[in-house]
Parts: sequence; C-alpha cells; structure tokens
Amino acid sequence: MFGPVLLAAARSDGIRRLVSTARVTRPVVDRFVAGEGLETCLETVRSLTARGLDVTLDHLGEDTTDRLEAKRNRDAYLALAHALAAEGLGARAEMSVKLTAFGQALPGGGHDIAIANVRPVVEAAAEAGTTVTLDMEDHTTVDSTLAVLDELRAGFPQTGAVLQSYLFRTEDDCKALAGQGSRVRLVKGAYNEPASVAYQRKADVDRAYVRCLKILLSGSGYPMVGTHDPRMVAVAQELARRLGRKHDEFEFQMLYGIRESEQLRLASEGHRMRVYVPYGTDWYGYFMRRLAERPANLGFFLRSLATR
Ligand code: FDA
Repeated sequence: MFGPVLLAAARSDGIRRLVSTARVTRPVVDRFVAGEGLETCLETVRSLTARGLDVTLDHLGEDTTDRLEAKRNRDAYLALAHALAAEGLGARAEMSVKLTAFGQALPGGGHDIAIANVRPVVEAAAEAGTTVTLDMEDHTTVDSTLAVLDELRAGFPQTGAVLQSYLFRTEDDCKALAGQGSRVRLVKGAYNEPASVAYQRKADVDRAYVRCLKILLSGSGYPMVGTHDPRMVAVAQELARRLGRKHDEFEFQMLYGIRESEQLRLASEGHRMRVYVPYGTDWYGYFMRRLAERPANLGFFLRSLATR
C-alpha cells in the first residue's frame, strides 16, 4: 500500500532533501549501502569475497541533470575499475551502472552522451579483467538501454543488462537476449510503472518471472537470477537441474544487506552468488526503492525514527 507513495517520493527533490539531511536516517541507510567512499566499499568487497561471495559494485547515482555530473559519475567508475585492477579483484567483482547517471536522460542527445560516458568504463573494466552490467531503470529508458547494450557488445560481448519481469515486453526481450555470450540479470522490477506497460499484481509479476527464467535458462547465454524470493530461487534451481545447467552456467544475485544467510547458504552449495553492493553519497533513490519493496524495511526505518 505504501509502495507507490514511496516510489513517488523517490523522485521528489523536496522529500529527498528532508530524508537525506535527517541524521536519524543514516543507521538505516547503512544497512543497504556500503559506505560513501571507495575505500569503505573495497573493505566490504574484501570481506564478502573472503566469505565466498562475488560482487557487483554500484557507485550510486541516477537521473543526472547536467553533463558535468555525468562525467563525474563516469570518473568515479573509472577510479573503481582502476582500484579493482590494482587489487586483482577483477575475477570476483564486476560493476553495475545506471545509464541515467551517465546522462541518458539529458535533453539534446542524452543517449549518445550516455554511450560516450559508459564506453571508457567498459574498456577500463575489460582491462581490470571484469565487466559491466547495465542496470534497468524505468520503462521509458528500456529501448535506449538495450540499444546501448547492443553497441557495447559489439566490442565487449561480455557486457550484461537487466530485464524486469513486470514489463509486458520482457518475455520478448528475454528471447532476444537468450543467445550465446549474453549475460542477463532477471529481476522483478523496482519502479512505479503504469498498467499500460507493466503487470500490477504481484502474482502476475511472479508468474512472468518464472516464464522469463525458463526462456533464459533454456537458452545459451549466462542468466543471473536477481531475487531474494525463496520461491524464485527454488524454481531457478529446479529448472537449472532439469535443463542440465551446471552451477557455473548461471548465478544468483542479491542486494547487499538483504538475506545474508541465504546468500551464504547458496554459495556453500556451490552456486555462484553475487552481491550487489551500492556505495556513494547519492543513496536516496536506491534507499527509497528498498523501503518501497518491503513493509518490514519501512517498519525498521520508522522504528528507528521513533526511538531517537
Ligand atoms: P519480492 O520483493 O517480490 O519478495 C518476495 C519474497 O522474497 C518475500 O515474500 C520474502 O520472502 C523474500 N524477501 C524479499 N525481500 C526480502 C528481505 N529484505 N528480507 C527477507 N526476505 C525478503 N530492479 C530494477 O528495476 N532494475 C535493476 O537494475 C535492478 N537490479 C537489481 C539487482 C539485484 C542483484 C537484485 C537482487 C535486485 C535488483 N532490482 C532491480 C530490484 C528488483 O527489481 C526487486 O525490486 C527486488 O529484488 C525485490 O524483488 P524480489 O524478487 O527480491 O522479491
């Protein structure tokens, strides 16, 4: 019931200022975000990889409204790629980027600005022995993001993308991206989407997720199963078993701070388990989406306000 309100708030500058500057917010944010700076993020990476988990790193930022900020976001990712190379972490740590942080939504050529900013990041990732996955944002960005993916894959075929099962179009996108060499993270979707483009009922989103899993796991690409839902994890395991997929032919992904014991359990069973680790100062939109996803997260936040 609170989900749509929180997702609308995620895009409100006024509420952003209010929540971001409230000191009480910090301890709750720390549950989902691995610090503000690169060094703290790398400490988290070392600790997670020592426990058998792989990571994908997100330097927080989205909906960039000026070109300079888009370049600063690019530079933050370049610094991250260089740090991963210096620490020899390329085999365990990849990077997730939001193209709106790179200028995708800027008027007058946002799509091309985003490509110009993301390309050096993808190159730096390859030099560090790793790769980039393009996060998926709201439905108005999907065509542009998949077109960027196409361009990047021409030089860097290991570049990945995210598909969201709540969108009606996604089964077709899964079919198009189920081929050799493609890397797709399947998620349910975290934005406030209208009924004209997306399923509104959770049961329909879940059913679509299973259909998409079938398409991706039956294909010849590398599916990345992004969910905390025990039912979806079990379905993916069962489908993989039936389709003869080995443990290293797909992976599970979950968000930092969510279902940690399940992350360790899957890793201990021999699955590749990758944790999505966000860091940086621009945590507001990410944080609000986590609150919207789960009433228990919202309750935790409200209780922490009440006890201050
Ligand atoms: P859902 O929210 O449907 O919950 C189903 C069940 O899972 C719950 O009933 C509970 O049992 C369990 N569960 C869920 N959250 C839990 C928690 N906090 N603690 C304990 N149990 C919990 N979205 C997007 O639009 N674009 C993107 O690029 C990405 N990227 C991304 C990367 C990764 C690695 C993940 C895991 C997710 C994303 N998402 C995303 C977010 C995604 O779209 C979705 O909003 C969330 O994953 C929530 O959906 P779930 O499938 O996890 O379960």
